[in-house]
Amino acid sequence: MDVIRNFVVLEGADGSGTSTQLELLGRRFPGPGLPVFHPTAEPTGGEVGRLIRLALKGQVPLLPETLARLFAADRGEHLYGRGGVLERTGRGELVVSDRYTPSSMVYQGLECGEELPRRLNESFPVPELILFFDLDPQRAAERIQNRPEKEIYEYLDFQIKVHDRYLKLLPVFRAQGSRVVEINAARRPEEVAEEVWAALEKLPIMEL
Ligand code: TYD
Repeated sequence: MDVIRNFVVLEGADGSGTSTQLELLGRRFPGPGLPVFHPTAEPTGGEVGRLIRLALKGQVPLLPETLARLFAADRGEHLYGRGGVLERTGRGELVVSDRYTPSSMVYQGLECGEELPRRLNESFPVPELILFFDLDPQRAAERIQNRPEKEIYEYLDFQIKVHDRYLKLLPVFRAQGSRVVEINAARRPEEVAEEVWAALEKLPIMEL
């Protein structure tokens, strides 16, 4: 599969800390000798992404299959649209996204079966690096229980399956050509951030 150089993806179950780590990572930039840094996320803030967010909050009822298709459509815009991932990585920026195709393979794989998300996502190129935030689902649930709004996937039974499925699919993501690093997400955010940085430093773009 085609690999997008300079593209890094943060993955994990809900409450594993991907958003926090993206924010902490951003504080290291700009810096001498570092590339331009562009943090981003899926679902995106675009029109399709906004519809997805409404569905995740339970405000728009959609079939799981419809949601799977929307995630893929949102991804197409994210990747190929103006100012998107390919444009930025192509001009030498480091793009780090909170979630990408692995989230669809895991979450929609559980909701719709493997086949639909596989078909919807097989034509997307894969990231150079995937950081998987590994956290016990019980602890992740404790972290997110104080969030004001609960989303449709945020209950423990489902998150246990999400965590298991990530572990099962990591070898598949490796076989597709991404480097996959497992991050122990149980420690303090500053310690996790060090581990994230150590993985990023090995990217060729960081050694220029
Ligand atoms: P998340 O990234 O956790 O954002 P926030 O913390 O702001 O709610 O939420 C996105 C949710 O969408 C998360 O539960 C995972 C899910 N998701 C999918 O099911 N499939 C996908 O392809 C993507 C990108 C996300």
